[in-house]
Amino acid sequence: METNPEPQATLDLVIFGGAGDLSVRKLLPALYMAHLHKTLPEDTRIVALGRHAWDRAAFTAFVDDKVRAFIAPAELDAGAWGRFIERLVYVSLDATRAEDYAGLAAALRAGADRVYYLATAPTLFTAICAHLHGAGLVDAKSRVVLEKPLGHDLASARAINDEVARYFSESQTFRIDHYLGKETVQNLMVLRFGNAIFEPLWRSPSIKSVQITVAESVGVGSRAGFYDGTGALRDMVQNHLLQLLCIVAMEPPVSLDPDAVRDEKLKVLRSLRPMTVADVARDTVRGQYTAGNVDGERAAGYLQEANVPANSETETFVALRAHINNWRWANVPFFLRTGKRMAERRSEIVIEFAPLPYSLFPDTPRQSVNRLLIRLQPEEHVQLQMMAKQPGSGMKLRPVSLDLDLQSAMTGRRAEAYERLLIDVIKGRLTHFMRRDELEAAWAWAEPVLDGWKSLGDKPRPYAAGSWGPAASSALMAREDSTWSEET
Ligand code: BG6
Repeated sequence: METNPEPQATLDLVIFGGAGDLSVRKLLPALYMAHLHKTLPEDTRIVALGRHAWDRAAFTAFVDDKVRAFIAPAELDAGAWGRFIERLVYVSLDATRAEDYAGLAAALRAGADRVYYLATAPTLFTAICAHLHGAGLVDAKSRVVLEKPLGHDLASARAINDEVARYFSESQTFRIDHYLGKETVQNLMVLRFGNAIFEPLWRSPSIKSVQITVAESVGVGSRAGFYDGTGALRDMVQNHLLQLLCIVAMEPPVSLDPDAVRDEKLKVLRSLRPMTVADVARDTVRGQYTAGNVDGERAAGYLQEANVPANSETETFVALRAHINNWRWANVPFFLRTGKRMAERRSEIVIEFAPLPYSLFPDTPRQSVNRLLIRLQPEEHVQLQMMAKQPGSGMKLRPVSLDLDLQSAMTGRRAEAYERLLIDVIKGRLTHFMRRDELEAAWAWAEPVLDGWKSLGDKPRPYAAGSWGPAASSALMAREDSTWSEET
């Protein structure tokens, strides 16, 4: 069982890449929110590291200028913001230079707990851990947080994990998948295991198919340097979508202990049917967006985006059919789909129940009539689609839905994923972080898909920005007599 010692009150939270994109857009705003809402322990300092030769004043001016834009105006309280700034420390450091770690050591407080957040390229992870250790900055209470992507294939993920494990035990290692920090994703577990009515039906043959969509309306933006060498399968499917699949498909864990939950997710990942090259050719669709209209505005194609090579074959869209080889899910296809520059931002899970075995009513649709739709983003709601009688003479059926609007049903603040996960790290709670074997099992399944595309010479199919992806994605569903939720 992975457990952590009770954290102390004094904490130095060190962010490598402290002036980088993730820190500015997500980490510092999340820490401010935790500070504002008093969940960040009182004696916590945030030590940002970066290559700029800044002093503290230059760094705090940078934060004041850049970070506020990522905080909701209603949450910006001048007094709280000022006290938050007082928590910040800046150390200029080149993460690859052992000698620079002396400066970091001097900035850390003796006896404080230490969390090292590695918001850098994964190629730096091993050097950072080794240098931290070399400078005597790692002890049994230190923790390390590793941002995704952790490696670009199974071998590189293993190499990073091996190296990190030389200095940090598994219970000190927090591998982030920010989807696991989303309120709505955590609520999925409650929907499944906090209610009795779904469980008897939550299996083959009562379920015909499961679809998981994470659609984004944004394009690659300024991240082409990272994204073009990565693509949607590595960026989204290998981690976020597989984690959602695990929560939908896992067996009830024996408890909420980190390892009890992670053991069940691991079993799902290990039960994924490996994809052969023939499966990849038949069951996957890659796409790349071309110019179009999104949210009423003209959007450039991927190849016209800044820093994207003119001949790039990187996929910005993936749809695929996966199978889980176990009793519960035998013959139930899991359709996964994600893409950038799609018609709208929408993340949802659709459980399609089996069609009626026999219909009394002449106009019952041939396809499944009952679907459970779990919308995760942008708004949170759960909808059970059913059939009802249309008023009037005759027995005409009409689809209706039972709607659970969680946004209005539950008041209270919903913390962002990063805020929730940072507090989990501080408290030493591992449940919503990926264990090493989980991460490697996810790579072991995803890598043959990448290899399959390579050996097939697969080129991404074009789709217009603002659409739901290439037509082949609908055809993938049609083969199973199913449709994506927006097509019904
Ligand atoms: C990140 C990916 O992990 O998740 C990005 O690297 C993607 O490409 C982002 O845009 C989506 O996260 P969210 O929380 O906006 O759905």
